[in-house]
Formats: sequence, C-alpha cells, structure tokens
Amino acid sequence: MAAAQTATARIAVIGGDGIGPEVIEQAIRVADAALQRDGISYAWHRLPWSSDFYKKTGAIVPDDGWDTLKQHDAVFLGAVGAPDVPDTVTVHGLLLPMRRRFDQYVNLRPAFLFDGVQSPLRDKAPGSIDMLVYRENTEGEYAPVGGRLYPGTPHETAVQTSVFTRRGCERIMRAAFQGARQRRKKVTSITKSNAQVYSMGLWDEAFRDVSREFPDVEARSLLVDAAAMDFVRKPEAFDVIVASNLFGDILTDLSAIVTGSVGLAASANINPERVFPSMFEPVHGSAPDIAGKGIANPLAAILSAKLMLDHLGDVKSAAALHRAVARVLKDGKTRTPDLGGTATTAQMADAVLAALAG
Ligand code: NAD
Ligand code: IPM
Ligand code: MN
Repeated sequence: MAAAQTATARIAVIGGDGIGPEVIEQAIRVADAALQRDGISYAWHRLPWSSDFYKKTGAIVPDDGWDTLKQHDAVFLGAVGAPDVPDTVTVHGLLLPMRRRFDQYVNLRPAFLFDGVQSPLRDKAPGSIDMLVYRENTEGEYAPVGGRLYPGTPHETAVQTSVFTRRGCERIMRAAFQGARQRRKKVTSITKSNAQVYSMGLWDEAFRDVSREFPDVEARSLLVDAAAMDFVRKPEAFDVIVASNLFGDILTDLSAIVTGSVGLAASANINPERVFPSMFEPVHGSAPDIAGKGIANPLAAILSAKLMLDHLGDVKSAAALHRAVARVLKDGKTRTPDLGGTATTAQMADAVLAALAG
C-alpha cells in the first residue's frame, strides 16, 4: 500500500442537521480508507454551519461563507432542516442558494437495485432497476420568484412563479443525453405539458430540439403522473430520466424507495464547467425522527462520496468504494433498520471498511 501523500483535494464538509453529521463522518472514514489504498489523501475542512450554528450566530452561512466554499474543490453535505428552525433559514439560506450560486445545474441521482437488497416491489432481480435521473437544479418550480399580498386579510394572495429558460432546459437535457451515451442510450423526459402549456411547452420543445443532436439515443416524453405509475409498475423500462426541479425531486424519493431505501440514495450537484465547486449529498434529509439514535444508514452518504471521488478524478478509489458497498449489501450480514436489520450507522460503515480491506 502506498503511503499517503499531500492532500490532492480540499473538501468543504457541512454535516448540517439531524443525521447529516452522523452519516457524513462515517462516509469520510470510508472515503479516506478507499483513497489511502491508492496513496491519495483529501483535506476535509469541517464547517459548523447548521441550525444550531444559526441559533448561536444569527446566520447559517457566515458573511464570508460563500467565498470560503469557493476555495474548495468540492462540498460534501449531510442535510439541513430542523423542526424548530424555519426552512427559510436552512433550505433557503444554504442548500438552494448553493445549487444556484455555484451553478450546479446537473443534479445527478442514480437508483440501482443492489444484490441483497429487497425492493418493496415483487420479484425484482438485482440490477433490474438501474435508473439515472438528471434533475434540473437551478430554476423551474424552485425559482424564488413570487410574493405574498394582503397578508392577514381574507383576500390574502400568494404568487409563486416557475421560471423555465431555453438555456436551462437545453443544458440539463444535453447533459442527460451525454450521460445516456455511457449507459443504455435511452432518455425519458418528464413533462406535464398537457396542463402546464407555457413552461412545460418550452421544456418539450427544447427536448425535441436537443434530442435531434443525439440521433443515436432513444428519446421519449412521458407525463409525470404516468411516470410515477411506471416507476412502480415497470421501473426496468427506465434508463436516463431528465426532469425539472420539482418533478425530479419527487420522482427521486420514489426511485430511492423502489430500489430499497432512501438510506441508499446518493446525489451529486454538478457544475459541469468546473467554475465552481460541485456539491455531493445524500438524497435524504436530516431525518429528525431517528436523529441522535445512531441508526441512520450511512450508505447514501458513502455512495455520494463515491460520486465525489469520481468527479475529482479518483476513479479507482471510487470504484473500490462502490465494490465494497455492493459486497456488504450482497453479504446481508450488516443492515441498518431501514434495510430490515439492527446495525448501527457505525457498524454499517465498519462493514464497508472491512470489505475495502478484504
Ligand atoms: P427525510 O429524508 O429526512 O426523512 C424521511 C424518512 O426517511 C424518515 O422516516 C427518515 O427516518 C427516513 N430516512 C431518511 N434518511 C435515512 C437514512 N439515512 N437511514 C434511514 N432512514 C432514513 O425527509 P423529511 O422528514 O421530509 O425531512 C426532514 C428535514 O430534512 C426537513 O427539514 C427537510 O426540509 C430536510 N431535507 C433536507 C434535505 C437536504 O438537506 N438535502 C433533503 C431532504 C429533506
Ligand atoms: C432534496 C430535498 C430538497 C429539494 C429540499 C430540502 C428543498 O428534498 O434535495 O431532494 O427539494 O431539493
Ligand atoms: Mn427531496
């Protein structure tokens, strides 16, 4: 085994709230071990930004926080969100602004049915569900455009406007088609243009135009309600999926559960131009219902670290990490409660470490 060298990447670590820090710390242990096998070491720079930090300081991101993040090669994030702190502080103060400020417009969310994991769907063979969602991450239904009028009156009014741009649609779609070329060459665009004629009309037109640039890739459009049904009825039919911000959010909780657990669902928020750091985080949130119990599944965070290693070019260590996770799941001896077992967060990470060493 080669000796560890000087750090090749600087990672900003934001554990955040609830189970966030619990799973992130275990993922760092495991990522360090995978990197060490190849003589690589990362510098992990832990930032205490969280709901507690907000309660102490009055801000979740300090004044110079965004500049601090920019000095890193990637951000590794647990989750933010606490029952006693409003979402305006956590989600709208940190998570969503990061995706926009750092132009992380590709939200990559793989869903794969690992050998040894029980899908809630009957008779699904390992590997038979293998989807990759490209979620638009910077505009759409999440654009912070709108307002409230006449608050506290019977005429109280709320307006929230979706923002769909041709550039925004085309760039996520191109990324999806390029991704599909590395896979089974099939892209499904999720739409609702039968109801939302303006925004989803533009989305569909952009999809039709971009699909012409990729004649070797099969392209189809599917209404989001039908897609929700087909994620359950025949998830095998999907390869790459491209979806707007909100549709992609909802469908990736569904793709997570049909492949066993949200505790396995990883994600990458990528700025493909690499002008800004990309951010890696599990799909799940801070899970206040199990926070502090030490029973959260760390594999979603570990698989998110795997995506980060890939992005940073450490593909050999990333592959080793993935193989180790697959081995532990297939083996089935160590399982957290979401997978039907009794293992703790740390025991699950220990099992991955043992598989890496073996
Ligand atoms: P959640 O994902 O936190 O939890 C949903 C369910 O899944 C809960 O029953 C939880 O126990 C379970 N679960 C989640 N992760 C798990 C894991 N690793 N192992 C085992 N079980 C797991 O969603 P929620 O309860 O709707 O949201 C809680 C808070 O998290 C909210 O404030 C929400 O806004 C926030 N949130 C943040 C992010 C993020 O920071 N990226 C993502 C989603 C939700
Ligand atoms: C996710 C989360 C966030 C989202 C929330 C916390 C705003 O659910 O990352 O999936 O909707 O993007
Ligand atoms: Mn979500």
